[in-house]
Amino acid sequence: MKYKRILLKLSGEALLGEKDFGIDPKQIEQYARDVKAIVDKGIEVAIVIGAGNIFRGIQAEETGIDRASGDYMGMLGTVMNGVALQSGFENVGINTRLVSAIEMKEIAESYIRRRAIRHLEKGRVVIFVAGTGSPYFTTDSAAALRASEIGADLLLKGTRVNGIYTADPEKDKTATKFEDISFEDVIAKRLPVMDMTAFTMCQENNMPIIVFNMNEEGSLQKLIAGEKIGTLVAN
Ligand code: GTP
Repeated sequence: MKYKRILLKLSGEALLGEKDFGIDPKQIEQYARDVKAIVDKGIEVAIVIGAGNIFRGIQAEETGIDRASGDYMGMLGTVMNGVALQSGFENVGINTRLVSAIEMKEIAESYIRRRAIRHLEKGRVVIFVAGTGSPYFTTDSAAALRASEIGADLLLKGTRVNGIYTADPEKDKTATKFEDISFEDVIAKRLPVMDMTAFTMCQENNMPIIVFNMNEEGSLQKLIAGEKIGTLVAN
């Protein structure tokens, strides 16, 4: 196997599945099957989940809520998604540990880096929630940070699009997909892969990123088996 330990970033929006708000249970079931397939092959999996299906900090300003408060609301949204993921994963027999960047010990373990690594070594899927625990950071930044902290070989960004395109493929029919691209080129072409804080953290820590469509069942297994799926960003 090319990769031993991966960090999978799932957007909250992806959890919407067929719905307009909240969580589509069918989507969680699909993720659970996909994750189980790679855990069964011995891959260590950590997950960072977003909250776009519930609340985005950035939206808050429109409603008169200050940015920091809005970000905390978003972090709480990730906890709800994490609890749902944990339950869905356990339904298919995956051992999980829910780990929060903000202390709420009745719901999740508090984040301790070495403990999270130990869980991974024991074959447990670690679901990181509450982002970085600090406002002004996105869950993509949490993914970049945790991936570096746990020594992941790869950061997988699961989205609804199967890679990085020259333009938004949902709007521009002439858009073409990159198979591989360097960090410098993503910056020079201003491609919206992640926010700059998250992106430069990956670049500085030499953390390769693969952007792929996680909602296409089986893609995760194929990717881990070495098939060219999505777009690879590397130095
Ligand atoms: P080992 O020490 O490797 O055996 O790990 P473990 O996670 O199995 O042991 P532990 O006894 O620490 O945890 C048992 C269960 O309690 C697991 O499901 C943990 O996720 C959970 N747990 C541990 N600490 C906390 C906590 O502070 N809050 C909550 N809500 N659950 C916790």
